[in-house]
Amino acid sequence: MDIGLVQVSHISRSFGGHLALDDISFTVARGEILGVIGRSGAGKSSLLRCLGALDRPDTGHIMIEGHDLTALPQSQLIGLRRRIGFVFQHFNLLGSRTVAGNISLPLEIAGVPRARRNARITELLSLVGLSDHGHKWPAQLSGGQKQRVGIARALANAPALLLCDEATSALDPETTTSILDLLARINRELGLTIIMITHEMDVIRRIATHLVILDHGRVVENGPTLDILAAGTQLPVTQALLSETQPRVPPAIRARLVDTDRPGARAVIRLRMGGAAADLPVLSTLGQRFGVDATILAGGTSEIAGQPFADMIVCVGDYSAGIHDFLHGLDPSLKVLGYVPADL
Ligand SMILES: Nc1ncnc2c1ncn2[C@@H]1O[C@H](COP(=O)(O)OP(=O)(O)OP(=O)(O)O)[C@@H](O)[C@H]1O
Ligand SMILES: [Mg+2]
Repeated sequence: MDIGLVQVSHISRSFGGHLALDDISFTVARGEILGVIGRSGAGKSSLLRCLGALDRPDTGHIMIEGHDLTALPQSQLIGLRRRIGFVFQHFNLLGSRTVAGNISLPLEIAGVPRARRNARITELLSLVGLSDHGHKWPAQLSGGQKQRVGIARALANAPALLLCDEATSALDPETTTSILDLLARINRELGLTIIMITHEMDVIRRIATHLVILDHGRVVENGPTLDILAAGTQLPVTQALLSETQPRVPPAIRARLVDTDRPGARAVIRLRMGGAAADLPVLSTLGQRFGVDATILAGGTSEIAGQPFADMIVCVGDYSAGIHDFLHGLDPSLKVLGYVPADL
């Protein structure tokens, strides 16, 4: 049985009496992309430092490939750290070394002979799409190119785990997309396990297969991203993190909403469907089967970690118990937000 590449059990860390990490446990299986999200001060960076063996928790254990990070003597930590690649928000490239020189550094530290180093650098440059840029200086590169060098450097010693701390936060939206695509491709092609720390729900939605939500140093949600984002019962902290990417009832319609379902009233509902149900032609089915009109007021279909996910606010004419039952069968978390009287 695969017990997981990373097992975090009951770790706590305090700074001057303040509990930054409070009894944290979770497991990451090989090949997963785990997104860790939380508000500022939730403990994300503290957790990442512990995972990367840059800091030790006060209590609890972190197992990586069966080795306990919290129990290893300093001398053996160095070897284990080589199994972990770091990608930083601000790239942290050495301005005094070329692109190839930056990628070479972890190989030099690991004592890889020159010929093998050069072959590996060529391979890594090609992997991140920078084959013609090895001779350039970091100052000559765009932010996205610098992050590609950062990723190549992190992969140099073929780590088992890639830790990314806000890897796209310093990049514009288009460059963010290209870096997320690169990380997803590396995950797919190399089977590399990735833990991504971010404060952006959009980053999570795009590539994280699994999700941990931290709040005040505690894990408040942990599971497959789609399950957490599609759940009907979300904690306030989850809702707050999601609010930017969620559909909203347009203000003009919100102002007209009433909460009584007079005969013939049109209902405004929130419909969320993950997986295969997300592709169903719900609106035309409502028309064909119930003879009612239905309009999307906000939201639509998107993808979460490569799986279809529909999240929309829909206005359904002549809302009946039969229609409600049909929709509830598709989305058990279905919410009727209010009614727009037919005579308005
Ligand atoms: N070295 C430290 N010394 C003292 N307090 C610390 C230290 N590191 C973290 N903290 C405290 O621990 C808590 C968690 O901090 P952490 O940096 O892990 O949060 P974060 O989730 O990364 O926040 P942000 O999104 O702002 O980066 C905060 O209250 C912070 O002030
Ligand atoms: Mg932080």
